Amino acid sequence: MTAILLKGANYAPSLLEPLKPKVEEFKTRSGVTPKLVVFLLGDSSASMDYVSRKGVAAKAVGMDYELVHLSKYTTQKELLDCIGHYRDDPKVHGILVQLPLPRSKDKNGKIIDAKIPDIDESVALAAVGVDKDVDGLHPDNLAKLGTPQQSFIPCTPRGAMIMLEKTMSDFDKKKVVIIGRGPTAGAPMATLLKSHGVRDLRVVSSQTPREESDAWIKEADLVIAAVGKPDIFRLTGNQIKPGAVVIDIGIGDKTLPDGTTKKMSDVDTQSCLKIASAITPYPGGVGPMTVACLLDNTYQAAVAIEKAKQQGGGHSQRKPVTTGPARSI
Ligand code: GUN
Repeated sequence: MTAILLKGANYAPSLLEPLKPKVEEFKTRSGVTPKLVVFLLGDSSASMDYVSRKGVAAKAVGMDYELVHLSKYTTQKELLDCIGHYRDDPKVHGILVQLPLPRSKDKNGKIIDAKIPDIDESVALAAVGVDKDVDGLHPDNLAKLGTPQQSFIPCTPRGAMIMLEKTMSDFDKKKVVIIGRGPTAGAPMATLLKSHGVRDLRVVSSQTPREESDAWIKEADLVIAAVGKPDIFRLTGNQIKPGAVVIDIGIGDKTLPDGTTKKMSDVDTQSCLKIASAITPYPGGVGPMTVACLLDNTYQAAVAIEKAKQQGGGHSQRKPVTTGPARSI
């Protein structure tokens, strides 16, 4: 068996093509251009690549885009002051703080650069404000996920859900396993799957006994890998059930024998290709959908913010966002 490759680039036009005329119509109607601001701290080449894709895509749909590129030595106070400036700017509709933030130590606790002030990620994510949180990672927006008050949906889980709805229309009746329960990918993915009717869902974490997690993964019809720590976890073909669908949304730094690091995803695509029925490759899997969802969220934010302004200020009232209609391909 050779799995079908689920490439985000084949799905992203379903969001981006209708978005472009909607942005144009919004600009004509309101005289306002939706604007996305991305904060990047440090000079990780992978993060620079990710943010430049966001910039190119934003401009392609007619939005304004600004990259605020700060030093890895930026303190928490400096970052919060800077985010606050953009949060208070009425011309800005969406703010994203690119993760991961620079760290003074590596994952083994070894000091990389003691001068790097370790910024509290959740404080930085909260600083963007709920109305401009187009990344969907503000703690208040995460808390509302899957409820009737749902606001912005985190972009990677939302992108993965849209791809799933379009390829596996009966996924709600399947045995599903999510590997990883981090706040930015695994946990919101679990919430979204439950709100889409999935009942047989197990979430595997480092606390799950190994025999249990191995057995659950082997039985699952749909495996979502969301760990992002390739030094400690990688999913290989011999771990999955023949015919399973594999969605790979975990990316992290793999330490190579010479001590350097390389970005790697959770899934060994090559070995899983022979066993799975469908798989998101890396690179080229959910990534383009993450960007498309970010721009869609930015458009939604702009509409809500401008509407709130016309109604006399106050917080914007956004319509609940759905991942989109289910359709099989
Ligand atoms: N780094 C990699 N993907 C993402 C994302 O979706 N949001 C943020 N803030 N950082 C990321």
